[in-house]
Amino acid sequence: MIQRIDVSRGHGYPLLLGATLDELGGHLKTAYGTSGHYLLITNDVVAGYHADKLLDGMKDLKTDLITVPDGEQEKSLDRISKLTEQALQFKADRDTVVLALGGGVIGDLSGFFASIFMRGMRYIHIPTTLLSQIDSSIGGKVAVNHPSGKNLLGSFYAPQAVWTDFDTLQTLPWQEMRNGLAETIKHALVADPDLFEFIEEHADAIKGLDYKIIKEMSLRSLAVKVKIVTEDEKEKGNRMLLNLGHSFGHALETEEAYQGVMHGEGVSIGIAAAANLSRERGLVNDKQLDRILNLLMKMDLPTTAKAHDRAVLLGHMSADKKNKAGNKVLILPVGIGRSVIAADCNDEEILRAWEKVII
Ligand SMILES: NC(=O)c1ccc[n+]([C@@H]2O[C@H](COP(=O)([O-])OP(=O)(O)OC[C@H]3O[C@@H](n4cnc5c(N)ncnc54)[C@H](O)[C@@H]3O)[C@@H](O)[C@H]2O)c1
Repeated sequence: MIQRIDVSRGHGYPLLLGATLDELGGHLKTAYGTSGHYLLITNDVVAGYHADKLLDGMKDLKTDLITVPDGEQEKSLDRISKLTEQALQFKADRDTVVLALGGGVIGDLSGFFASIFMRGMRYIHIPTTLLSQIDSSIGGKVAVNHPSGKNLLGSFYAPQAVWTDFDTLQTLPWQEMRNGLAETIKHALVADPDLFEFIEEHADAIKGLDYKIIKEMSLRSLAVKVKIVTEDEKEKGNRMLLNLGHSFGHALETEEAYQGVMHGEGVSIGIAAAANLSRERGLVNDKQLDRILNLLMKMDLPTTAKAHDRAVLLGHMSADKKNKAGNKVLILPVGIGRSVIAADCNDEEILRAWEKVII
């Protein structure tokens, strides 16, 4: 059964949860009629697992398939340029609807492409990783990377809908599941102590790939994201809380040129660094710090990074989009299930936080 949650900011769009891939075509016919043109953008890995099922339901709809190589490096202006050429070959125009089938990389890339091709075309997210189902497909942020920073070129551009088939997770490797778990634990730390306890309680089931439990966890986790982005679409206030762990994590990803630490690993190390900074400020106690680090480790997520020059990492943090008037703005956990925006973090305490997580 399809569960619908409306994300009510912007033009408003529904999350259609528990939908199956082959049902999408029928819904598109109801929404847009039979004469529309669809551009299905995915990557070679996801295409191998899931494109046929989706295309089965689209048989009498004009659908062209674009498959891009797998990997974060494809979130680039170069790929946007290639997509433009391919879309033109398929005679795409402003009425074409982009279907973005894949994880956060395909979602961010295709959404950004949809936002600028001929000044904007409609798109639908079809997220296939835990991270994209509970996080990146919700909230309308789309972007590509630039050598100077991650997600540096992007926009807020809401999809028409998010079509989430939780069964697609059954082909997702554990190491990718972990990336989503880092964001799920982040959601719990930002706004939902019960979710944190749920993950602690069901840690073995989650690691054992009990998809019923994973679905329940996902529904709770995405509810946190929906609530926060609905209240703060343009990231002026509380939406910044969702960046917990990201300032530290992005610094590591940038330093390793997006080829080393994975996104979820960076977030996990970043949460560990932020939690240590919170401990130093007395915002979490030793027991809470241990619970945070233990849950991350239980999910096979790292809480330490390999050796890097801390000053260089601090330098990368200077390019963070959250910073205001030269001050670094960090998100810090307060106990379990609440976090705050700290605009007064000084370089010395950030360097000490790095020291705690660099081995
Ligand atoms: N827009 C946002 O608000 C937002 C939020 C968080 C993260 N992000 C972005 O999301 C990206 C990370 O997303 P991700 O973790 O989904 O990574 P990803 O898109 O690279 O997917 C991870 C890997 O899993 C494979 N894969 C995807 N679905 C699969 C499936 N069902 N079965 C088997 N393999 C599958 C992919 O091919 C890839 O190899 C980063 O670029 C990050 O910046 C964006």
